[in-house]
Formats: sequence, structure tokens, C-alpha cells
Amino acid sequence: MTRVLSCIQPTGDVHLGNYLGALRNWTLGQHDADAFHGIVDLHSLTAIEAPGIIGENTIKLAATLFATGLDPDVATVFVQSHIFEHSQLCWVMECTVSFGELSRMVQFKDKSAKREGEFIPAGLFTYPALQAADIVLYDADEVPVGDDQRQHVEITRDIAVRFNHRFGETFVIPKAVTPRAGARVMDLQEPTSKMSKSSAGDAGLVYLYEDPAAIVKKFKRAVTDSESEVRYDREAKPGISNLLDILSACTGDSAETLADKYSQYGPLKSDTGEAVVEMLRPIQARYAELIADKAELANLLRQGAAKARVVASATLERAYNAIGFLPA
Ligand code: TYM
Repeated sequence: MTRVLSCIQPTGDVHLGNYLGALRNWTLGQHDADAFHGIVDLHSLTAIEAPGIIGENTIKLAATLFATGLDPDVATVFVQSHIFEHSQLCWVMECTVSFGELSRMVQFKDKSAKREGEFIPAGLFTYPALQAADIVLYDADEVPVGDDQRQHVEITRDIAVRFNHRFGETFVIPKAVTPRAGARVMDLQEPTSKMSKSSAGDAGLVYLYEDPAAIVKKFKRAVTDSESEVRYDREAKPGISNLLDILSACTGDSAETLADKYSQYGPLKSDTGEAVVEMLRPIQARYAELIADKAELANLLRQGAAKARVVASATLERAYNAIGFLPA
């Protein structure tokens, strides 16, 4: 059976990009594969410095993962810091990736440029080594992610291939899987930038738990262009193409087919807003129920950790044996 692994950081409120690019596909794929999904709290330490926040975000994110449809009896949902093997294998990964490779990572360049003159943790630089550990620990064949994570999965492949070459066949070589529509949801106000938790303002971001009226309003105010033709062209018409892509992800119709149905921007904006509201409505209701019982969520995460640990510890042991560390 195909093994699937993907993770999300508990850094801020989950947005439509996270949902369409990743979470929705985790739920859709859980019955066809052996699925592992992690809340990667250690990664969040590159962005969050105050005490208490990460734990609170983690429990909310667990409620979100179950609200979007992950079934704890089917998929294994765990918290990264509960499985010590992630940090242990991370060091092995750090010794298997070069400084040059890490320097070429687009996310590192972007994030460190944004913090120019401020404290830039070394963890931001070595981040892809921890992500590689997350992936190879679970023998993942497929990693369902949004487009922005492709480079991180590519470097994981390079690291895993290099390790296998040095120490013998140990790790499964993973591949990234992105959805047909929604792999790169753009900011509604700045449609040439991806929708991101670290955006300057939130007028262009649609959060999963936002009030329906506010969501519709954000879509009505989405930045488009001064023409009036509805056409799917990411380069020339980023705003309209983003709306078509989102509507396509909601309805299942292709962006090109949808473009033929509209002759004006207004109806496209309001239909997209409505479609998003309808898609999110059951998730919002389920989240409200789940978050009311945090003890039960913590319990589900403990069960997930127990299942995850079995796989992770076997892989770490295999890697240590392949390297030939003296057994303890
Ligand atoms: P994170 O937490 O930023 O995002 C979680 C998932 O959401 C996707 N995503 C998007 N998809 C489409 N459009 C967007 N605008 C958009 N914004 C975010 C991301 O591609 C991701 O799939 N480094 C990862 C977390 C991670 C991980 C892993 C992922 C750590 N270890 C192992 C996979 C496997 C991250 O920061 O994702």
C-alpha cells in the first residue's frame, strides 16, 4: 500500500491555501493509502518565540485536521515533538545535505530577506533537513503538498538518494503530489503572491473559520485587472485566474470551462465567494464541536503518536545500523 506523509506547521490560523493545497487532499486520499499527518511544532520554533503559543496552536490545528475530515481510525495524526526520532534523524540529514544546497532554498531566501537586520535563527537555514527527516522517517512514497513545498520535497529526495548511496539502501525516495486545482492559491489583494500566513495584511487572506459574510466581501473586493474579459491566463490575468482556480477547486469543473461561463468579473467574484462559504460551512460547524473537547483531542494525538512512533523508531534504527554506529 502506498505510504503517504504530509505535515503542517502550527504557526497561525489555517487559510484557504492550506486547505485547497494540502488538507483537503489529505482527507480525500486517506482511504487509498497508509496515511500519516504531522503537526510540525518543532518547525514552528523558527517563527514563534513566546511561551505557550505553539501548544495552543497545536490543539487547534488538531481540531482543524479532524474537522476537515481526517479520521483518527484511518489516518495517523501526530505531533512532531512527541516523536523524538524527528530531531535525531534531523542531525543525520544535516550531515547529508550541503551548505550550498540549503543556501539555494527559495523559502530560506524569502524568509531571511523579510527578517533582514533581525534575529534569523539557524533553524530557518537547516529547516529542510528536519523536513527531510519528517518524510523519510515514515517511508513515504508520496507527499501531498501545495506547490510551494515542491523544492523541499526535491531536496529530501536528493538527501535520501545520497544517504542510500553512502550507507546502502535505507530510505524510500518520496515524490511530491500537488492537486490539479488549488496547488497555489494566491493572495486576493496581491494575486502575484501566494496566500500566506506571513502576508502583510489580511484583506487578501481567507481563513477557514472566517465569518461567511466577511469571506464573500473579501472575494467581492478581490483585485482583478482593468480589462473585462474572463479568461484563464496566470501570467496576464493573475487575479481572474486565481478566482477561476479557486472556483475550479470548489466545483470540480476546469478553470477553462468555468471561464467560458462568465462574461463579467462581478458574478465570478460573488459565485467564487459563495462556493468557498458553502465548502467551508460543514468544516466550521465540525470544528466548533471538536474544539469544545480538548481532552479528547489530546487523547487522539496520543493515540496517533503511539502509531507514528512504531514506524519512526524502526526507520531510525535502520538508519543508525546502516551508518554502523556502535549499538548501545
Ligand atoms: P505550511 O505549514 O506552510 O503549509 C501547509 C500546507 O499548505 C500548503 N500551502 C498552500 N497550498 C496552496 N496555496 C497556498 N497559498 C498555500 N500555502 C500553504 C503548503 O504547500 C503545505 O502543503 N514546510 C511545511 C511543513 C512541513 C512538511 C513536512 C510538509 C514540515 N515537514 C513534511 C510535508 C512533509 C510548511 O511550512 O507547510
